Amino acid sequence: MSIKIHFLPCHIKATKTSWQVVTVLLEGKVIGSCNLSFWGGKNPAIESVFVDPKYRNKGVGRSMINACIDECESCRKESLYLTVNVKNKKAIKLYKKLGFFSLINDGTTIWMGLRI
Ligand SMILES: CC(C)(COP(=O)(O)OP(=O)(O)OC[C@H]1O[C@@H](n2cnc3c(N)ncnc32)[C@H](O)[C@@H]1OP(=O)(O)O)[C@@H](O)C(=O)NCCC(=O)NCCS
Repeated sequence: MSIKIHFLPCHIKATKTSWQVVTVLLEGKVIGSCNLSFWGGKNPAIESVFVDPKYRNKGVGRSMINACIDECESCRKESLYLTVNVKNKKAIKLYKKLGFFSLINDGTTIWMGLRI
């Protein structure tokens, strides 16, 4: 499966908010997406991770998160964060395989981090 990962940089001057809309494209069609947010230029976070159910378990999620890690590396960020529901075992397993570790678990949400 030949996928392409596209980063669309977004910036709102008034609130100094920057993020990238990350899309995974297969033959020009979006099959997955997430946001890579830079709060105040620091502390990047991955949000709103989603892969089209038809294309799950084929490494799409892994490729998308890895591309975000690479992007943070090239922007010289030192860490990357995300949150995940405690019941979302598949996502937690995927994030742990990619090197994220649990920082806080309040019983509903797990805050995970990765040193880059
Ligand atoms: C969580 C989610 C993003 C994962 O996306 P995905 O594309 O299915 O994930 P991947 O395929 O990269 O990896 C998941 C599994 O597929 C396996 N896999 C990776 N490459 C593979 C390949 N080429 N062939 C088959 N399986 C593969 C991984 O090892 C992993 O398996 P495991 O969980 O048994 O260890 C997706 O299930 C989703 O959109 N869920 C709904 C929204 C959601 O929960 N988002 C996360 C919010 S924090």
